Amino acid sequence: MIKRKSFGSDNHAGAHPSVLRMLADANAGDELPYGADSWSERAAAELRTMFGASGAFFVFNGTGANILGLSLLLRPIDAVICPQTAHINVDECGACERVLGIKLLPVDVGDGKLTPDVIADRLGERGDEHRPQPRVVAISQVTEFGTCYTLDELGKLSGFCRANDLLLYMDGARLANAAAYLGCELAELAAHADVLSFGGTKNGAIGAEAIVVMREDITAAVPFHRKQLLQLGSKMRFVAAQFLALLTDELWLSNARHANAMARRLADRIGGLPTVEIRQPVESNAVFAALNPDQITSLQQDWRFHLWDEQDHVVRLMTAFDTTEADVDEFAAAISAAARG
Ligand SMILES: Cc1ncc(COP(=O)(O)O)c(C=O)c1O
Repeated sequence: MIKRKSFGSDNHAGAHPSVLRMLADANAGDELPYGADSWSERAAAELRTMFGASGAFFVFNGTGANILGLSLLLRPIDAVICPQTAHINVDECGACERVLGIKLLPVDVGDGKLTPDVIADRLGERGDEHRPQPRVVAISQVTEFGTCYTLDELGKLSGFCRANDLLLYMDGARLANAAAYLGCELAELAAHADVLSFGGTKNGAIGAEAIVVMREDITAAVPFHRKQLLQLGSKMRFVAAQFLALLTDELWLSNARHANAMARRLADRIGGLPTVEIRQPVESNAVFAALNPDQITSLQQDWRFHLWDEQDHVVRLMTAFDTTEADVDEFAAAISAAARG
């Protein structure tokens, strides 16, 4: 076990006790398999209502969610415009390219956010049969830099996509954190996408993500895609039950709000230190900070965090639903002590 509370990733956290209790409840008795169970039906219905969606389908992990979600929007000749830093581009081992057989068109945007202008720059090869055809724009909300697209930015993106015959996919592995930060409904975020994912794993589940489909015309095909892409479990009730726990009394929102508040607290504690420079706006549960290289080496002996950019000495410090104020204060004190050498 990791000794102190990890700031390496929200994936390092365990599961929320309510999720474990709901799994025990779901274990009682027999149920129909392959998502035909009452747990899946209830959880999917709740998600459809919350998102104003045509369909909601459970999957095991975020990479699987992205592959399934994108598969619904792409033809073999199509390409996906995404930021260079997108999880689908750098952290999924080329799954999109291998499994979907399509080309990603990564755009180098310093802050990890796409804008209509940078997308427009990638459309020049449309109509050239020698080039894959840009068809989908993929964004992450929260971005890989821990920042959030505002509703206004999303409106500009979705407006541009609709006007230019592009589809919008939203990787919502941390959508809960974005909704918590922006103080908006999930439906307000989803309204800008054709398909999106809604993450549970980083927010208190063991392994549960959902694909939310906003377009009626593709919803009927989803079960077939999910099965082909290996994301249909026979005992799907245990994935759905995790979501039902997160949906009960808006646990998803309180977990995300708490994780965000802990990141804010950490940034406030360390932001004023002379050797620390906060590099990204803190808009979710991540703090990106440049530290002095010796400080990083010294902290690494006792603490877990992610060295994001070795050259620039930038670290990513992540909080989770179960990070406590005491954890943050202890870590901040260690960062401060390491700064003194
Ligand atoms: C933005 C983003 N998308 C998707 C994922 C999902 O990944 P996994 O397949 O590990 O569940 C992650 C995990 O870190 C992520 O940060």
